[in-house]
Amino acid sequence: MGFKVPQDMKHVAIIMDGNGRWAQSRRRPRVWGHVRGSFVLSDIVEKADQIGLKSLTVYAFSTENWKRPTSEIKVLFTLLKKFVTRERSRILRNNIRFKVMGDLGDIPEHTRKLVCELEKDSANNKGLHFNVAFSYGGRDEVVRAVNKFMVENPDRLISEKDLPQYLYLPEEGDVDVLLRTGGDLRISNFLLWQSAYAELFFTNTKWPDFTTDEFEQILRSVATRERRFGAIKETCTEASLPSEMISTESLHQ
Ligand code: FPP
Repeated sequence: MGFKVPQDMKHVAIIMDGNGRWAQSRRRPRVWGHVRGSFVLSDIVEKADQIGLKSLTVYAFSTENWKRPTSEIKVLFTLLKKFVTRERSRILRNNIRFKVMGDLGDIPEHTRKLVCELEKDSANNKGLHFNVAFSYGGRDEVVRAVNKFMVENPDRLISEKDLPQYLYLPEEGDVDVLLRTGGDLRISNFLLWQSAYAELFFTNTKWPDFTTDEFEQILRSVATRERRFGAIKETCTEASLPSEMISTESLHQ
C-alpha cells in the first residue's frame, strides 16, 4: 500500500514560490512559470487527496502581490479562473471540498461567480479540504478577525480561544506542516496565526519543478520529527526530584 500521512498530520500549507525565477532561467516571461505552476498544483492536490491529508492550503496571490506589474496580476487572476474551470469536474468527482480564502471582493465578478459556484457545489464533500489563498494576507486576516470579534462582543476582551473562530476558515484549525519551495527561508505573511506550531520545511526546488514524489518525501521526513508544542519529553518524574525543586514557592524566591 502507498504512503498515508500520520493522523497528526492533518493540515499542510504550501508557499508555491520560484515560478518567476524558473521561467527567467529559461529566458521566458515570468508568467510562464505561473502557468506551469498551476498544472503542478493540480498534481499536488491529487496527491494530497491520495495520501489522506484532511486539508491543503496553498498561497496563490498575497496582499503584497498587488505591488507586481498589472500584466502579471492579470495573468494570476486569469489562472485562478482557468484553474477553477479546468479542475471543477475532478474536484467534484474526487469528493474534494474547495474554498478560496482572502478578499473575494478583489476578484473580478465572472471569476468570483465560478469560485462561489464550485464552493457551493463542493460544500458537502467529505474528502480533502482544498483551500486557495488569493488576495490573502496573514496580518490582514488577524486584524479582520479581531474587528469582527469586537463588533460582536463590545463588552469583552478577545482571547486566544476566541480568535480562531473569526478567521477565514475556522474549521481548518492549525497548520501541521508549512512548506515553501523556491529556496527562500520566509513565511511571507502566510497563515501567521495558524502556523504558530507548524513544522517548517524549505526546499530549493522551484515550484514548476516540484513533483508529487518530492512532496511525499518531504511529508515522510517531517512525519519522523518529534512535535512537542513547547512541552518536554518526560525524562524524570516529579517523585525523583527533591521537594524544594518542585515547590512553586521556590520559583519566587
Ligand atoms: C510566487 O512565485 C508565486 C506566485 C506569486 C503565484 C503562485 C501561483 C501559482 C503557482 C499558479 C496559480 C494557481 C492558481 C490556482 C491561481 P514568484 O513569482 O514570486 O517566483 P520568484 O520568487 O521566482 O520571483
